[in-house]
Amino acid sequence: MGQNFGTDRRAFLRAVGVTGGAGTMLATMGALGLAPTARAAEVPAYRAPSPGDFSLTGRAAASVVVVGGGIAGLTTAYELGKAGYDVTVLEARERTGGRNFTVRGGDTTTDTLGQRQTARFSRGQYLNAGPARIAQWMLTMDYCRELGVPVEVFTNANADAYVFNAAAGMTAPVRHRTAKADVYGYVSELLAKATDQGALDAALTADDRERLLTFLRGFGSIGGRTDGWRYTGGGRRGYAEDPGAAGTPGTVLGDVPDVSEVFASGVGRYLSFELGYDQAMLMFQPVGGMDRIPEALARAVGGRRIRTGAQVTDITGSADGVSVTYRSGGRTRRVTADYCVAALPPNILARTGHNLGAAVQTALEACVPSSAGKIGLEYRSRWWETGHGIYGGITETDLDLAHIWYPSHGFLGERGVVVGYYNTGAAADAYGALTPREREARAVAHGVRIHGDVYRTELASSFSHHWRQTPHVEAAWHSLRGGPDAPVFAALNEPAGRVYFAGDHLSHAIAWQHGAFASARKVVTQLHARVLA
Ligand code: ALA
Repeated sequence: MGQNFGTDRRAFLRAVGVTGGAGTMLATMGALGLAPTARAAEVPAYRAPSPGDFSLTGRAAASVVVVGGGIAGLTTAYELGKAGYDVTVLEARERTGGRNFTVRGGDTTTDTLGQRQTARFSRGQYLNAGPARIAQWMLTMDYCRELGVPVEVFTNANADAYVFNAAAGMTAPVRHRTAKADVYGYVSELLAKATDQGALDAALTADDRERLLTFLRGFGSIGGRTDGWRYTGGGRRGYAEDPGAAGTPGTVLGDVPDVSEVFASGVGRYLSFELGYDQAMLMFQPVGGMDRIPEALARAVGGRRIRTGAQVTDITGSADGVSVTYRSGGRTRRVTADYCVAALPPNILARTGHNLGAAVQTALEACVPSSAGKIGLEYRSRWWETGHGIYGGITETDLDLAHIWYPSHGFLGERGVVVGYYNTGAAADAYGALTPREREARAVAHGVRIHGDVYRTELASSFSHHWRQTPHVEAAWHSLRGGPDAPVFAALNEPAGRVYFAGDHLSHAIAWQHGAFASARKVVTQLHARVLA
């Protein structure tokens, strides 16, 4: 835990220093904006409560009822279980995992509109309807290690995937690498010209200018001073005919658009995504489906501690305990415990009975539910590999399907599930309002514009999922104005008597499993310290 990026940067710079000499190293530091480097603070490692904490004092472990069997709830139960707490998890749905939902052949859902779907994916094929990618720094990776969940690379950025902007008049998609070459090329040309003509003299010393020009020549693959710093394309854009044996050097992709065409195409807007701290390659996914994580967590917690189909109707705290009422199998039941961790979505808790106070209710209502949806399109052949040389990654569009994801597993195999749309907000709501068959028709019609008829003719089956229409969840994630530390959310970041709150919404990584893990660990730490005190 707690990667030390300061060390990593130093190691990198040492390597540069070794091969290029100290001068190169200093120039590199300057060009990359890394000098001086600050030593990253060490993050103290999380220590799960241990049985020894109790046996030393001769106390019995407390009982805890956890409401919600998503990642936050399961993690709470898992960590408390390590110390021998008497934990009960109440999950409204028939399966645990919350939004971590992997759809396989035979899986059936009924949404809040009453629409029923059964997935017809073939064996080994799946759609991660919720979380689908993990950054290397995330706690999710540590839990995969601890729980023995194997992971593989998830291709989040692929130079050979496409960019397609219909509004800019594109009739054919452009490879990501081509878009990048042109945008970086022209930006470099313009900046190099301005720099060389003295436009930046107030900001740069003569040495800075030369270093910047050196950097831009490489960054944009542009000509030098005698060439007027011009961007003229080149191999980075890709090849119309790939290089081969001696005598066949290949044909570089021609028809370099002019600077004005490149900016008008709008392709540059997609090039910064891969720089995000939470989206940068490498990224990972569990082998076989994201739900390997909640499956492993639930196994570790123990089936006898988890009650599914238990819909909580009331949480009442008192001076010495908490009483949770729920409906199950047509009957009303009650469980009492020393403490409760409410790890259900805030929009659902907001309409559950409780005596936790007005500030809690106000905070819950201030969590704004967001929409997101996905469709999995199973194809009979992996035409994106054989026809386009695309092995995973994402095609970015301005169509209402937003993103097309190619599978990051099963390479060179026979079939595969493409995510035909992964959209949010109004676009997600628009698809959600359609029947599953209409969603498929709309997604395929758009996809054909990018990939041609094969997008329709090779389709075997589809399955779509909308989080705003998923019973007991009704949100893809929540947005919290001002972030989870804004004053209005204070009531959720501390216990209301003996009731604690956990979930990704109470983290600085909303819409990530990492946030749910982090929030659960915070609550477990607080609760355990209180029990020991
Ligand atoms: N964390 C979610 C994603 O990566 C929102 O798409």
